[in-house]
Amino acid sequence: DPALLAEGEKLFRKCAACHKVGEGAKNATGPQMNGIVGRAAGTVDGFKYSKALMDMAAEGLVWDDASLHAFLTDPKKFMKGTKMSFAGLKKEEERTAIIAWLATFAE
Ligand code: HEM
Repeated sequence: DPALLAEGEKLFRKCAACHKVGEGAKNATGPQMNGIVGRAAGTVDGFKYSKALMDMAAEGLVWDDASLHAFLTDPKKFMKGTKMSFAGLKKEEERTAIIAWLATFAE
């Protein structure tokens, strides 16, 4: 759905202060997002994650649709101790659009 992807691209501005995505994207305040949908948490090369994130990664956290919705709704509730300082996206349709758009970027 092109309209959903366009919405996702626009909404990603809320994330772009900390996360880059697309060709040549580098880590910044947050890890770069290429290939994030479907990826095991805490595995972007060269990014130093919080202990909270690495603990959940060790328990098998994968960034699929369900876990991304849960994390992005309320990051600090889903992951106590995360260093992602973001209030969250309360609107399901906004999360859906961002996740759909991110899924278009492969590794
Ligand atoms: C981590 C997505 C907004 C900073 C992550 C991760 C995802 C994500 C999926 C986990 C990455 C991994 O395991 O490799 C998003 C999305 C955002 C957003 C979609 C917007 C809706 C932000 C903002 C900031 C930020 C605004 C900075 C103020 C970080 C940091 C981490 C992180 C520092 C590492 C967390 C940790 O190690 O505990 N983000 N993020 N993010 N994000 Fe975001």
